[in-house]
Amino acid sequence: MIISGKELSAKLKAEMAEQVATFPARYGRVPHLVVILVGDDPGSVSYVKGKAKASEEVGIRNTTIRRPDTISEEELLGMIAELNADDGVDGILVQLPLPKHIDEDKVIAAIDKSKDVDGFHPLNVAALWQKQPCTLPCTPKGIIKMLKSAGVVLQGSEAVVIGRSNIVGLPVSKLLLDENATVTMTHSRTKNLGEVTRRADILVVAIGRPKFVTADMVKDGAVVIDVGVNRDPETGKLCGDVDFAAIEPKASVITPVPGGVGPMTICCLMENTIECFLHRVKQA
Ligand code: GUN
Repeated sequence: MIISGKELSAKLKAEMAEQVATFPARYGRVPHLVVILVGDDPGSVSYVKGKAKASEEVGIRNTTIRRPDTISEEELLGMIAELNADDGVDGILVQLPLPKHIDEDKVIAAIDKSKDVDGFHPLNVAALWQKQPCTLPCTPKGIIKMLKSAGVVLQGSEAVVIGRSNIVGLPVSKLLLDENATVTMTHSRTKNLGEVTRRADILVVAIGRPKFVTADMVKDGAVVIDVGVNRDPETGKLCGDVDFAAIEPKASVITPVPGGVGPMTICCLMENTIECFLHRVKQA
């Protein structure tokens, strides 16, 4: 079974659009998401366009601010301070990565926690690890939704995560743990990685290397979630971190690239923007 993130996200976005359509009458406005893009990395440009398109589909107001990669850290922090103070802004997203002369951690921490639609702010991260109410990071949240939509049993399962990034590996491990999976976190320096991954009922791969996971690393009937977005060095086409063609016949459930995790990430960003909006209008 191939889980289509594209189809699931289309269904969820349609439901959100119905909900957002009721907001002007109820709250006097719709949610407003501001996306800041620094530089012109083709991947980032394409992601930011996807976020604007999804906002339009859901009825969320989207402002995309583009700045050259020569922008200073001070200028960027100044922009964030203005957006934090602007009552008409519900969500602020700074597309990562940032140029090397800008301290990413400092920028993330500068975003008001209540407008942190990425769930990257240190206070949101702390809340996640303490099982307190928080904004969940979009990719891990989308992965759990996909697993649940496919009816995958998480409780008691052996989950193996490859990759330990702040954006995916660490938070998805925590969310799987919260679903009562037994979680093993692995990375580029794990010894005998294949031995570990072959134990997995659920394998989540976010290592950023094309076709890194080969068929011999996957147990028959495993559920495989591919977070990778890479260019295949041979064909130049988009490909994931797993060798889809070789693993698809073995897996009970697998996500494709493109059309798998990516659309779910954007869908969860829309959901987070609505959550931040509702939180703010209900407090006002
Ligand atoms: N770069 C890659 N993934 C993400 C994401 O989820 N959010 C932001 N802000 N930047 C990213």
